[in-house]
Amino acid sequence: MLNPDDLPFFDPTKTEKIAVVTGGHSGIGYYTTLHLFMHGFTIYICGRNSHKVHKAMRTIIDEATDRTNTLQLDIRNERRSFFGSIHYIHIDLTDLKSVERATLKLQRSVTHIDVLINNAGIMAVPYQLTKDGFETQLQTNYISHFLFTMRLLPLLKECNGRVISLSSLGHLLEFKYWKLSEKWNIWPDIIFTWFRYAISKTSLIQFTKMLAIKNPDILCISLHPGLVMNTNLFSYWTRLPLIGIFFWVLFQVIGFFFGVSNEQGSLATLKCALSNNMSTENDNGKYYTTGGIESKSSYIANNLDDAASTWIWTVHQLKDRGYKI
Ligand SMILES: NC(=O)c1ccc[n+]([C@@H]2O[C@H](COP(=O)([O-])OP(=O)(O)OC[C@H]3O[C@@H](n4cnc5c(N)ncnc54)[C@H](OP(=O)(O)O)[C@@H]3O)[C@@H](O)[C@H]2O)c1
Repeated sequence: MLNPDDLPFFDPTKTEKIAVVTGGHSGIGYYTTLHLFMHGFTIYICGRNSHKVHKAMRTIIDEATDRTNTLQLDIRNERRSFFGSIHYIHIDLTDLKSVERATLKLQRSVTHIDVLINNAGIMAVPYQLTKDGFETQLQTNYISHFLFTMRLLPLLKECNGRVISLSSLGHLLEFKYWKLSEKWNIWPDIIFTWFRYAISKTSLIQFTKMLAIKNPDILCISLHPGLVMNTNLFSYWTRLPLIGIFFWVLFQVIGFFFGVSNEQGSLATLKCALSNNMSTENDNGKYYTTGGIESKSSYIANNLDDAASTWIWTVHQLKDRGYKI
């Protein structure tokens, strides 16, 4: 497994490295932020709950300090001199206005963005429409990240930045290209919600691939972080009355055989964010998996005609709601 300590460190007094992480306060995102902080980054965590994010910010700084306490004095001092800083930006991905406001705040706060990590997501929740009229998984996992990334593109271009999108192995469930205009509000929801998740995560890969083609100066990667069973992603299922315990046991069993820890779940992201061995020439538009291993996304996610259809549909939908791309 990749050791984050082998990835480059930056001295924040010499180089200002800036990362923006949606949902960087919990689950996999927590460890992404922790390591970026320890590697000298100024991190903007974009989340919808100020209390949760501020609590995580304090815990991350304490944890970074505790981790360096075990090192030899000279190494400890050097590592602590690399500590960056963490800030909070409010964003609710189910609300395009909130996404727009977050980008305006970022545009006012930073001169460039080195790494944008589209990490926040929800999985297999009941059918619901957002106030913008999109299915909630499609908007949270894909459409809002599309708008967010496109608005931040000029800041990413300032420093040939990187865009990393957390997709999922679950995208494979989209075995045929389905038009995004179809709502998928089909009974039984307990089954079809997984297809909606797959569509949202396939769309995110297609978007990231198209972004790479349109912007060859920016490294754009999508990835599956690994099966990480102890995050809140599964909490809708494990908190269901009576049958929740069944799903909890099921997820624990899957995790025991195939899963990785929350921290290991952040390794693919960290590699794509920090590695000097990845370049726009060789890696743009690629798909990585658990631990930062190069992999292949589905045939549908790779098909450029389908990716172009997804892109065009999204641009039109956003335009209809007053967001010009
Ligand atoms: N865990 C896995 O096995 C696995 C596998 C494949 C892919 N992934 C992907 O990895 C990413 C991180 O997941 P995780 O496992 O770390 O789950 P998690 O702990 O539930 O993290 C998801 C994050 O998304 C945020 N979020 C959800 N809805 C939001 C909204 N409307 N506005 C703003 N933020 C919102 C959550 O914020 P709150 O704290 O406010 O809810 C949370 O910080 C997700 O994109 C997920 O699809 C995970």
